[in-house]
Amino acid sequence: MAAFDFERVLLVEHWTDRLFSFRTTRNPTLRFENGQFAMIGLKVDGRPLLRAYSFASANYEEYLEFYSIKVPEGPLTSRLQHIKVGDEIIVGHKPTGTLIQSNLLPGKRLFMFATGTGLAPFASIMQDPEVYDRYEKIVMVHGCREIAELAYGQRLVRGLPENEYFGDVVKDKLVYYPTTTREPFVHMGRVTDLIQNGKLFADTGLAPLDPEHDRVMLCGSPQMLADLRVMLDAMAFTEGSTNTPGSYVIERAFVDK
Ligand code: A2P
Repeated sequence: MAAFDFERVLLVEHWTDRLFSFRTTRNPTLRFENGQFAMIGLKVDGRPLLRAYSFASANYEEYLEFYSIKVPEGPLTSRLQHIKVGDEIIVGHKPTGTLIQSNLLPGKRLFMFATGTGLAPFASIMQDPEVYDRYEKIVMVHGCREIAELAYGQRLVRGLPENEYFGDVVKDKLVYYPTTTREPFVHMGRVTDLIQNGKLFADTGLAPLDPEHDRVMLCGSPQMLADLRVMLDAMAFTEGSTNTPGSYVIERAFVDK
């Protein structure tokens, strides 16, 4: 089997001058778990230029969706941001990644903490009916600088209760907490600070993090991941991996530098 598929762009949506999302066709033989990523990209000067991108769409959809930053000098995203419907995208045929349920021990609540485009794998996971079966509560915390950067996640979350298969369970189990750091909004503050000062729990009515019953997935900026890792370790959470499931798992969000 080929290592890559060539897919056609079906839809491009620009959210801000720094963020866009796009859909492509999907090779029906491509298999992935919600939360995983693949190498995707463009042919540049006759050679593939690829970066790791989480699937933002669920694995049962006929299309693939990706959520991307635009870096003006970025080798890939300076080009990728100009894609149009009908263009060709390279999609790697070997999805991988740590943000999968089998890397986590069974638990009662799943907390997903993301900054920026780190939302992408959780967009996929929030559309996974099995995840709702597995937990009593799913808590999605997404931190961005400005309100406009929350829009992609807000639209997705707004649509989930309408889902004909699992909409009711979403209404019951999903807690969504968007927060900004540089523009006034209903929730403000860095994800790390909101955990530390208890505001996240006070605002949502949820009990504070507990390593015995809570499971945590992280995706976002390297500094946020580093800071949260220290906090979770101090609370006696253990990092999970393929061979040893734990109480938290981490993935870096793609940055095109
Ligand atoms: P801040 O505005 O205080 O830097 P970026 O767009 O740079 O990737 O950042 C996305 C979001 O992540 C911003 O709200 C930013 O807050 C926040 N952030 C950056 N570093 C950290 C960190 N170490 N811990 C928590 N949040 C962070």
